[in-house]
Amino acid sequence: MSRLAMFGGARTVDADAGTSPATAWPIVTNAEREAVLAVLDSGRFTSVERGEVQLLEEEWARYTGVGHCAALSSGTAAIELALAATGLEPGAEILVPALSFIATASAPVMRGLVPVFVDIDPLTYTIDPAAAAAAITPRTQAILAVHLHGLPCDMDALRTLADRHGLVLVEDAAQAHGATYRGRQAGALGDVAAFSLNASKNLPTSGEGGLLTTDDPAIHERVVLRRQFGEDLTGRGERGYLSQVIAGNAKLSSVQAAFTRCQLARLAERHEQRDRNVRRFLGRLAALDGIVTPHCPEDRTHAWFQLRLRFDPREAGCPEVTPGALRTVLQRALRAEGVPVRPYQSLPLPAQPALRDAFPDQPYRPQDHPTTLAVIEDSLTMQRWHLNPAAGPVLTRCADAFEKVWEQLDTLVPAARSMTYRPKWREAGTEAAPA
Ligand SMILES: Cc1ncc(COP(=O)(O)O)c(C=O)c1O
Repeated sequence: MSRLAMFGGARTVDADAGTSPATAWPIVTNAEREAVLAVLDSGRFTSVERGEVQLLEEEWARYTGVGHCAALSSGTAAIELALAATGLEPGAEILVPALSFIATASAPVMRGLVPVFVDIDPLTYTIDPAAAAAAITPRTQAILAVHLHGLPCDMDALRTLADRHGLVLVEDAAQAHGATYRGRQAGALGDVAAFSLNASKNLPTSGEGGLLTTDDPAIHERVVLRRQFGEDLTGRGERGYLSQVIAGNAKLSSVQAAFTRCQLARLAERHEQRDRNVRRFLGRLAALDGIVTPHCPEDRTHAWFQLRLRFDPREAGCPEVTPGALRTVLQRALRAEGVPVRPYQSLPLPAQPALRDAFPDQPYRPQDHPTTLAVIEDSLTMQRWHLNPAAGPVLTRCADAFEKVWEQLDTLVPAARSMTYRPKWREAGTEAAPA
């Protein structure tokens, strides 16, 4: 048995694995280079002139199976404009999962809405429909369903809830390009959906961008108006400089659209190879006691934007160790072996300083979202490397590293046992409110 790298042994994964072409993301080929150069040569740089932006919108609407798509400057802008275009009243409540990226909560706040945080389902890590039902008040007007890590939420349950209470159902599909729920694409499951095209995403651009999809022509029209100063720029002829509504500037550039169109042409093919690589990798990890690999219900497909791995001290044979301490030593040991595991979100959204400042009369109560807290405490994620379809051999080495660490778990347990571990939500100065 070879010694763990953290104790001076050889690392399992090559030191240059993260900078090799096999793990690069996004993948830039001559197709992207030529498409971007063609835009530069064309002189048509903005989305106002018909060109790459409109073609991307048409292609993404077709891909997701919706009537309309609007290209935007970011996923955050797409959530904001989705909320602006669906008639939500200022001060209305919107149900938001407690585990997500900050934009899921900050976009509603920037639109004058009040996020009400809902715990996640312990198997899918997406918003728990039963907890969502319990959080509805007379002020609730919308649900923001985040397809976290690339797995669609239980959209039929959320649709039933939304219809029963007259709520708008918005998808945050920033991480879920190409994922499906009961045969339908993410982006076609709610009233309106927001995607990110950030360079880290499964469907990336060479920088920042977003896409918004909807079947409702009125929502689409309102979004298009609001992405460009409230001006109707759809007609021909001279620009009138007439603004119908107060709005910012959230357009996508033609260069970004041209790059993304090349990525879109390969999205399905890359997903298939990634799906094979990831399932093989997760299959090996699932055989190790105490590792809980992501669950994908049969009625869905997973885009595998991120792979979240939970660690159960009891199943791993060290019930006396706290989940946070086990996760901390595992992160050290696995990183020393060359596996790029890292936490994704160190706080539930309502514990974020920005949210606590924005709503001082709603102190963070850890007891309100126990599953979110448990998942944050006991898990690490794999990001980016596995997106590249050529990453199969690197993932095999990563699985080797997990197996090596697991064989020698007993050498790590003393460090985990003696560690003074303080959860981040406590470090952030957040204490439980009186019950
Ligand atoms: C779940 C989720 N929502 C929204 C966003 C915001 O997207 P963008 O970075 O394009 O603004 C992200 C970005 O990572 C995200 O992961």
